[in-house]
Amino acid sequence: MRTAVELIAAKRDGMRLEDVEIRWLIAEFAEDRLPAYQMAALAMAIYYNGLDDRETRTWTDAMLRSGRVLDLSALGSGRVDKHSTGGVGDKISLPLAPAAAACGVIVPMVAGRGLGHTGGTIDKLEAIPGYRASLDVETFTRIVAEHGFCIMGQTEDIAPADKRLYALRDVTATVESIPLITASIMGKKLAEGIEGLVLDVKVGPGAFMKTRERARELAERMVAVGREMDKRVVAFLTRMDAPLGRMVGNACEVQESLDVLGGGGPPDVVELVEVLGGAMVELARGVSFDEGRARIRAALADGSALARFRGAIAAQGGDLDALPQPTGETVVTAPRAGHVNMIDGHEVGLTAMSLGAGRRTRDDVIDPVVGIRIDAAVGSRVAAGAPLATILHGHAGPPPAAAIERLRAAFGLGDTRSLETPLILERIG
Ligand code: URA
Repeated sequence: MRTAVELIAAKRDGMRLEDVEIRWLIAEFAEDRLPAYQMAALAMAIYYNGLDDRETRTWTDAMLRSGRVLDLSALGSGRVDKHSTGGVGDKISLPLAPAAAACGVIVPMVAGRGLGHTGGTIDKLEAIPGYRASLDVETFTRIVAEHGFCIMGQTEDIAPADKRLYALRDVTATVESIPLITASIMGKKLAEGIEGLVLDVKVGPGAFMKTRERARELAERMVAVGREMDKRVVAFLTRMDAPLGRMVGNACEVQESLDVLGGGGPPDVVELVEVLGGAMVELARGVSFDEGRARIRAALADGSALARFRGAIAAQGGDLDALPQPTGETVVTAPRAGHVNMIDGHEVGLTAMSLGAGRRTRDDVIDPVVGIRIDAAVGSRVAAGAPLATILHGHAGPPPAAAIERLRAAFGLGDTRSLETPLILERIG
């Protein structure tokens, strides 16, 4: 077999790597026998020259097999999860998992924490007093069996090679490689012991993928890899030109999720839960997408999704009746009259992070109470001095003036109303 240097040179020169070579490289890296500088050079070569479908599949499989692969077959068939590439205000997993469970989908969900401008599902759930995200696999499996779903944090033994490689990509400017993102996401998700996966690939200024073309390329790659590995996979490209829903933060996003589970909540969150949930029911139960969507809508309306959520959260120690409340509020007003044509999710996310709702570095501690409520949605018209957003104060008290100004500037006000793009842009697979 070729040496590590020969393999890096081959990829640098645009050539293919063999299955056995990819497996060897990843195993050596995971065991600390391949130095980080060689893996960094290889990641950069892949960034420029890519991986073909076969290489991407093998790379994904090697990531997946670098750690524990859950065997949840004892739970029965219909095990389907959802993954989102991440956005601001993206609390979808909270209402979606119990709604899908109420429709007979088995949802073993392993979720992540937030970093930078985007939040993480586990950070939001940890705003619930008593909630435990770290579970052993036996407890996780028992909760899924009893409640139809469970959301737990990433464990050390699921796809450990990805953890190492992602940390390296993060500091070597090689995160934005479509085959490496594909292998990273699919390697982790397929280790969950699922049979199907619904992907939400966000597009826009607040998202990881800024253009529709890049988002489509990523979605197509992930769907192809999943299918090659005998999984049912569907992807949706969805708009991210404003935060999702009205709330950005942690406790406030749990509250907004409870509103959706109670049959209310903002229309964009409800639509996304219905569409992604409809596809989960379709994959798990073999019904049409329209039938799946109708079942999700019914589960939100009749309280069965809410009952599932309450049950699983209580099983993880969480007390939803004790959600922490803000200590005060600061209203951010419009500098002039106009139509709200866009809300820069990236800026809203960074403002929330600077106030304590997110992490600048992996070691930062989150203040669960801090949040931002969007008062003027995209498409609305505001008068000068009318509320655009409200900052919910955390333990540090009222926000600094710079945060207020930054949030104000995130709102794009125009004299005319710009055309709105649909929330769901396209379906792949
Ligand atoms: N999210 C992941 O899990 N991995 C990537 O490579 C990028 C985003």
